[in-house]
Amino acid sequence: MTTRAGRVIAQAKINLMLRVLARESSGYHQLETLFARIDLGDVVTVKTAPGQRSLRCEGLAATAGAMGPPERNLAWRAAEAYAAATGFPSGFAIDIEKRVPVGAGLGGGSADAGAVLRILNALSPAPLSPAELLALAGALGSDVPFLTTESPFALAWGRGERMLVLAPLAARDVVLALPGFSISTPEAFRWVSEGLGWRVAQPLLIEADALGSWAGVSAIAGNDFEQPVAMRHPLIAELSTVLTGAGARIAQLSGSGSTVFGVFDAPPDRLALEASLRAPAVYTRTATRVVAVEVLE
Ligand code: C5P
Repeated sequence: MTTRAGRVIAQAKINLMLRVLARESSGYHQLETLFARIDLGDVVTVKTAPGQRSLRCEGLAATAGAMGPPERNLAWRAAEAYAAATGFPSGFAIDIEKRVPVGAGLGGGSADAGAVLRILNALSPAPLSPAELLALAGALGSDVPFLTTESPFALAWGRGERMLVLAPLAARDVVLALPGFSISTPEAFRWVSEGLGWRVAQPLLIEADALGSWAGVSAIAGNDFEQPVAMRHPLIAELSTVLTGAGARIAQLSGSGSTVFGVFDAPPDRLALEASLRAPAVYTRTATRVVAVEVLE
């Protein structure tokens, strides 16, 4: 079989709303979340390479030593899962140019895994159906199914594998404030469930119209991880306050952190933000489309 290759920008995500519901007997928690892709993404290239398996990661965000061994990398595991399920490819070489901070609640690693699945499906002589691809994605983690779809905006529940895909909202400026620490996801889930105790989730009524405008989305915004994480890391609350003060219509933790993002209706004043934010800032926008896979050869 000839060597084939594909490439895509693995756009990261923010969670505009995130609720942690019941803990299953497996230890995993049911979630309810509103995902939006952002323009910031890693560049992921996959080459089918008979008899070989490799992963190369480069770029600023990869130098922090936070990447771990290749076999544990979610992008590698995505390729292995695809090959095990379909028999294609017989080998792979994955190349990731890291631009998304690692361990930051932006789904960078999950977006890379989603990108690998999409690329392999674009190269495969017998592609999987969208439902089959989602089943593979769901086994890799709660953010991977959304980051495998072609939709930039979706309400997801269960373990992230059940989704209502939504028409994208108009693009907005997003500021990502990056505290210098990462937060362990299992630990953050533990903090939330300790705080929730046996509290029954509050009733929630979402009007379909609310998901069609930024005003509606702002009304249901929030993240159950924010309070327990901010209790242990006061900088989180401070960054959220600064972003709100700078005009963000939504300012909150993304995923289990540690990134605090702000969504702005008008371009934010970068000089003023840099003077008041006690964390590095990255400027991006919400995405209105998911970048298509480019088949290279
Ligand atoms: O999905 P991911 O592999 O990133 O999850 C890491 C850990 O976070 C899991 O091992 C589990 O402890 C916790 N988790 C959870 N409920 C979810 C997702 C993750 O409790 N829906």
